[in-house]
Amino acid sequence: MRLAIAGKGGVGKTTLASLLAMVYSAEGKRVIAIDADPDANLAGALGIPPEQARRITPISQLKDLIEERTGAKAGSFGAYLKLNPRVDDIPDRFSAHKGNIRLMVLGTVKGGGAGCICPESALLRSLMSHLLLERSEVIIMDMEAGLEHLARGTAAGVDAFIIVVEPGRRSLQTAESIQKLAKDLGIDKCYVVGCKTQNAADRLFITENMPGFEIIGFINYNAAIVQADRQGTGIYEAAPEAVLEARQIKERLEQGLSPKA
Ligand SMILES: Nc1ncnc2c1ncn2[C@@H]1O[C@H](COP(=O)(O)OP(=O)(O)OP(=O)(O)O)[C@@H](O)[C@H]1O
Ligand SMILES: [Mg+2]
Repeated sequence: MRLAIAGKGGVGKTTLASLLAMVYSAEGKRVIAIDADPDANLAGALGIPPEQARRITPISQLKDLIEERTGAKAGSFGAYLKLNPRVDDIPDRFSAHKGNIRLMVLGTVKGGGAGCICPESALLRSLMSHLLLERSEVIIMDMEAGLEHLARGTAAGVDAFIIVVEPGRRSLQTAESIQKLAKDLGIDKCYVVGCKTQNAADRLFITENMPGFEIIGFINYNAAIVQADRQGTGIYEAAPEAVLEARQIKERLEQGLSPKA
């Protein structure tokens, strides 16, 4: 199961990513959670203590490793560059743990456009294809609000996109753009999760306005989620109702992804 979670800024991507990672972990599955947002905060949502979170160096900032693996200095251009550097040891070495989850933080690559051949993006590209194609863990990728990763194709190779929306038009428009880009990447499974819905009318707003989408569940508005964010505690521990909702979403996903009999 390899999932990428996308959506407009602030809709609840990180919240959902942390809940799904914890639900799989609680079942005994090994999970790699990837924080692909330059403004990384998945560690906090998972309830990883700040001291430990601060020790996670984003992969794009591992200058020595980037140079050792690609043969070129980070930040350099046009130098000789190994395009398929070794990366299989990186998830073990550069991640934080919680339960059965390994959390990796990707960091930013300045100017890392589609055709960019700087050492940082060569390493990240190689790492992403290793994670998405060669690992047996459940992969959950928390994407940034912009469509950069999508445009760069970083998420090509995921089994499904989960697009998070809230009951408002703007997040629905973003969902349309994400679905288009995902189709261009050859990913035909796009699911929608509604977040912060307060009542049946909110949920209806989403289902009625997204006829072309498969809506697989809701993480309803939950004061405990807001409280967890304020106190810096894990959402999974703080909001049991949200955990039940996430578990249902996981089950819907598995039904959708299992081969048709
Ligand atoms: N179901 C919910 N109920 C109440 N508050 C929520 C819910 N989901 C998310 N929030 C709150 O909304 C804010 C944004 O959530 P979150 O960080 O998960 O969104 P995001 O899409 O990852 O944002 P960004 O685009 O900035 O990465 C947080 O303060 C979070 O606590
Ligand atoms: Mg986020």
